Amino acid sequence: MLNGPNLNLLGTREPAVYGHDTLADVEDRCRRTATTLGLGLDFRQTNHEGVLVDWIQQAGAGVAAGDVLGVVLNAGALTHTSVALRDAVVGAVVPTVEVHLSNVHAREPFRHHSYLSPVARGVVVGLGPLGYELAVRSFAPTQES
Ligand code: DQA
Repeated sequence: MLNGPNLNLLGTREPAVYGHDTLADVEDRCRRTATTLGLGLDFRQTNHEGVLVDWIQQAGAGVAAGDVLGVVLNAGALTHTSVALRDAVVGAVVPTVEVHLSNVHAREPFRHHSYLSPVARGVVVGLGPLGYELAVRSFAPTQES
């Protein structure tokens, strides 16, 4: 689970938009969900685009080796700007679920476009931390309906 710029500020960052949960709270929720499903979870955050590219490439190597199922990616503002992240997702061949806490489509027009959505396996927006949990669930080998 990869988190991009400014997501380390969750809890105090624009709580009217992003809520009061910290990134550690989000991680706890995801970890509980993953454990319930028998999945491992590697939860990371960086403010640096190139680090995200490196991590996506690492995940791709893990997918190829059979020990990574995919990536849940909240790229923050890089979603709307980064061709490099899109190229990493495609080039590293990583099943990727794009997540946004807020409903980006109900916000400023510059948040409506995502370079990632066309290459993502799925997209979850506007559901807060629940969206992260749902993205984790999407990687479970068998899913209940
Ligand atoms: C975000 C939405 C982005 O537009 C914004 O730049 C973020 C957070 C979200 O989770 O809602 O940093 O990805």
